[in-house]
Amino acid sequence: MSTPSRPGPLRLGIAGLGTVGVGVVKIVAQHADLLALRAGRPITISAVCATSRTKDRGIDIAPYAWEDDPVALARRDDVDVVIELMGGENGAAKALVETALTHGKDVVTANKALLARHGNALARLAETNGRTLRFEAAVAGGIPVIKSMVEGLAGNRVKRVMGVMNGTCNYILTRMESAGLPYDVVFEEARKLGYLEADPNLDVGGIDAGHKLSLLSAIAFGTAVDFDAVVLQGIGAISIDDIKLARDMGYSIKLLGVAQMTGRGLEQRMTPCLVPETHPLGQLQGGTNMVVVEGDSVGQIVLRGAGAGEGPTASAVMGDVMDIARGLRLPTFGQPADTLTEAPAAVVGTGASWYLRMTLLDKPGALAKIATILGDAGVSIDRMRQYSHDDAHAPVLIVTHKATSDDIALALARFGESGVVVGQPMALRIEEV
Ligand code: HSE
Repeated sequence: MSTPSRPGPLRLGIAGLGTVGVGVVKIVAQHADLLALRAGRPITISAVCATSRTKDRGIDIAPYAWEDDPVALARRDDVDVVIELMGGENGAAKALVETALTHGKDVVTANKALLARHGNALARLAETNGRTLRFEAAVAGGIPVIKSMVEGLAGNRVKRVMGVMNGTCNYILTRMESAGLPYDVVFEEARKLGYLEADPNLDVGGIDAGHKLSLLSAIAFGTAVDFDAVVLQGIGAISIDDIKLARDMGYSIKLLGVAQMTGRGLEQRMTPCLVPETHPLGQLQGGTNMVVVEGDSVGQIVLRGAGAGEGPTASAVMGDVMDIARGLRLPTFGQPADTLTEAPAAVVGTGASWYLRMTLLDKPGALAKIATILGDAGVSIDRMRQYSHDDAHAPVLIVTHKATSDDIALALARFGESGVVVGQPMALRIEEV
């Protein structure tokens, strides 16, 4: 009787030797036996490519062939899977992925910006070439959220997906609260600790987390990736007062992504929200990420873990590599790319209670004016509190009954014209979780 032949090694080409690339090299070297046992074949690295060949990264890259040009890496005959860890939504990363897919390679990437912009086209390109394009490491670092949604939760119709998916923002918000420090001071701390992206607005402007949300939306609702439809608001205007007032009412402020299919279209938001401090989302501390998926059969699933860093992100990359090594070929977004539908973006979001903080001139009729403006905008007041003060300005906190973001925007515009509101009011949605 002949023994079935074992598949040969799965040969990787790694483009990008930053934190994550180094982590992948380490896992492949340190867990070689374990990976081979689990995959039924060895996992090897054929070639690497990065900006500097001589930089000391604490790993030995001498055993691997070197390429200066990522596109050349993608064309190598001894590479089966290209791992794209260069970043950037266009340019070299896009050229690398396209070349790899059209030259018979599978691709694993951690590049959320690339997929948020070009994910639909790249998924189609992978399928027309009979290849696999996987991106677990692009969303919530080490949390296997893509795998959970595409496989474990495949029997559910997803009702809503939510997440805290930018660790830097969560670090800033929780540090502001625990140390009682203002945003600017904690932002500088985060910069010194190396937490911020080269363009900090990717983090604090909500863009990085918005990219991730747009990818989860596609999987959750079978829709084409539509990053431009994500409503984005960063955390730069959140004050220590907001954090304290929210806490007094039993809430935490989080940069929260929410995607849900409504009768009015697909709603995708990445905005600072109040969430109950007793919910796992409200308790999330530091740079940790959390994704909450609500399925019609399973109910609410909470996934929590490190959203960035060498080990966690490399772990996610290796999860995809192992699937490919085992011959598991899943569509990029959980269903064939040409079946992803173009969902209209919900123009009016679902209603919610809102937290409104403003400073009023302390004079007769000021509060009445504000109440009238809210009433005229169709916004009903649930709770209201005026804080003690010792000058001519009165800080006021209002919690509304359910209202849409349009109603709130209308009221805010009228506050500006009222002559009694000093400075910019703060409006934050209170998300029902
Ligand atoms: N800068 C991101 C974060 C990690 O802070 O979560 C990469 O997406």
